[in-house]
Amino acid sequence: MTQNDNANRLHSPLGLLAELTHRCPLGCPYCSNPLAMDGREDELDAATWARVFGEAAALGVLQVHLSGGEPASRRDLVDIMAAAHGAGLYTNLITSGVGVTDKRLGELFDAGLDHVQISIQDSEPQSADRIAGYDGAYARKRALAAQVVALKLPLTVNIVIHRANIARIDDLVAMALDMGASRVEIAHVQYYGWALKNRATLMPTREQVERAVERVEALRKAHHGRIVIDAVVPDYYARFPKPCVGGWGRRSLNVTPAGRVLPCHAAESIPGLEFWSVRDHSLRDIWETNPAFNAFRGTAFLPEPCRSCERRELDFGGCRCQAFALTGDARATDPVCHLSPLHHLVEEQAAIRVDADYVYRRL
Ligand code: SF4
Ligand code: FES
Repeated sequence: MTQNDNANRLHSPLGLLAELTHRCPLGCPYCSNPLAMDGREDELDAATWARVFGEAAALGVLQVHLSGGEPASRRDLVDIMAAAHGAGLYTNLITSGVGVTDKRLGELFDAGLDHVQISIQDSEPQSADRIAGYDGAYARKRALAAQVVALKLPLTVNIVIHRANIARIDDLVAMALDMGASRVEIAHVQYYGWALKNRATLMPTREQVERAVERVEALRKAHHGRIVIDAVVPDYYARFPKPCVGGWGRRSLNVTPAGRVLPCHAAESIPGLEFWSVRDHSLRDIWETNPAFNAFRGTAFLPEPCRSCERRELDFGGCRCQAFALTGDARATDPVCHLSPLHHLVEEQAAIRVDADYVYRRL
């Protein structure tokens, strides 16, 4: 099989992001949820999620990320967790930390919870609460983390990096160590959904980004063996784009609170694609035959310069949603790539910084 055949053949998905609800007590201005969110009345019930998990396992999915919004906003979260575990999936709870009581964490643990990821906005409590748009969020996150560690569950701390906290990379990693995390994600903002709306308020300078990248490298060496430090690169200052979601319709899928199945969290921002629902189709049917999944699968659709570029099977021409957001054409080379004829669009946006109030994410 050639490398090209491998890029274009139909793979099995490995990961499922289950967005159980768009409800969330926090209002983070970089939230990747869409601006138009699903209401509570549209949410799938626990029985449908149980069916979806069974279909996902049969399709080859190994792990499910129970996410949102805040998944704990669902009263039936423990039943949903039990169903995912019962389907044989590795279960990761992605939580803001607000709304998961000690009792509930214990029930989730008993139901088969394998891993917890807590997002935290900053190492300084006041700043963290301001970014989250919720007084007392920092303290509640720390308290939940302590309970997770007490249960000996593996803990990942996720920190989204932007202009308000980028100067504190050392403090943020120290905080994650203090929380007992085995992994910390230093994730520079990706500009989709609410983050795109707040882009000029969140955007760091190139100098800040370079310094942050240097600190992450140094901290990785300093803490080797104690904590794993993952870094999500700051797209707008990269030379090459990321292989977004490992390639469109290649390795992962998302199910929205209302049941629409997407190749990535921002896919609905691309007009003209019809995303099928688990209410009407099986997951396999959607994965294999929904035209929206096939729209950007593989590399055959890519224009120049990707078409003749040796990196095309590594990055699939970057992110389709970003290509659309910045150029108006979802098939275009992601303009993050320095080889894109439209790369100047990224440079122009990165230069715009405004000190304004955040537009907080609200349902
Ligand atoms: Fe990737 Fe296309 Fe840039 Fe090549 S030209 S590095 S395939 S985005
Ligand atoms: Fe949709 Fe990257 S977020 S392809």
